[in-house]
Amino acid sequence: MKILLFGRGGQVGWELQRSLSVLGEVVALDFDASHNPQGLCGDFTDLEGLARTVASVRPDVIVNAAAHTAVDKAQSEPELARTINALAPAALAQAATEIGAWLVHYSTDYVFDGSGAAPWKEADPTDPLSVYGQTKLEGEQAVALTPKHLILRTSWVYATRGGNFAKTMLRLAGERDALTVINDQFGAPTSAELLADVTAHAIRRVQTQAELAGLYHCIAAGETTWHGYAQFVLEQAAALGLPLKATADKVAPTPTSSYPTPAQRPLNSRLDTSKLQAAFGLRLPHWQDGVKRMLIEISGK
Ligand SMILES: NC(=O)c1ccc[n+]([C@@H]2O[C@H](COP(=O)([O-])OP(=O)(O)OC[C@H]3O[C@@H](n4cnc5c(N)ncnc54)[C@H](OP(=O)(O)O)[C@@H]3O)[C@@H](O)[C@H]2O)c1
Repeated sequence: MKILLFGRGGQVGWELQRSLSVLGEVVALDFDASHNPQGLCGDFTDLEGLARTVASVRPDVIVNAAAHTAVDKAQSEPELARTINALAPAALAQAATEIGAWLVHYSTDYVFDGSGAAPWKEADPTDPLSVYGQTKLEGEQAVALTPKHLILRTSWVYATRGGNFAKTMLRLAGERDALTVINDQFGAPTSAELLADVTAHAIRRVQTQAELAGLYHCIAAGETTWHGYAQFVLEQAAALGLPLKATADKVAPTPTSSYPTPAQRPLNSRLDTSKLQAAFGLRLPHWQDGVKRMLIEISGK
């Protein structure tokens, strides 16, 4: 199997380089042409370059981990966000159709308005609150036009590599006596490792069960708030013996309304993952398992 991976340097893209490597040959690209083999194009602002690259590599599977993920910045650069999150995936979908390849794509809980408290199902009505959410919705709709597609909607992604919320909390708790964190947005932190592993399983399954093509929700099990997540990180850090000025009991809760940002975020980011688990015979582990693992890795304990 030949796999063409876009966005190899991102959180999910990095983990995909590992998880996809057992499936076959992986041609992994990022937007900087100087990093890519044989002048292949991984720049999502170059739609013709993407189509040319797919036609030249002729992969069995295209995996798109590239995206404009700066949610607040997208509010002030909607055209760039639309090009990267919607037009480029549309170009990949068309190129995939032309060569009969599978296209795997990631989307987000931000396609929903965050109302209510029930976990969102795949068929629930979408109503994005932000440019990021709107452009990601347009992207998934474009990808769904190619018959052999897998779209995984996920949330609150973190990875050991690069910056993330847990690392920020650890740094701040080392500098300050107390922290204040939002406690009315609900979701589940999901590791890039988990997404990459599920992706590899799903790609393998659809090779013999093409009827599994479709849209799936993929997040870790359980739920929390950013406040609960921060407290868990500091409890674990204390147990690992990391130096902290602010301990878990010094994290004060605050509502989203007290922390205005350019982009509005959904309050309810819970996603129902039963469709994915049933279709692919997978069990999604609790979010705390992955966060604990990351903390052990970054602490070197
Ligand atoms: N992060 C989350 O919390 C979250 C939540 C829900 C869904 N998702 C979705 O999950 C997928 C993977 O996200 P992630 O967390 O791995 O994001 P990420 O770490 O921000 O990775 C995105 C990658 O896209 C690259 N990129 C940016 N502009 C590009 C361009 N013009 N051409 C080509 N590549 C470009 C980025 O490069 P640079 O870093 O160099 O800019 C980065 O390598 C995305 O579809 C995202 O929408 C993420």
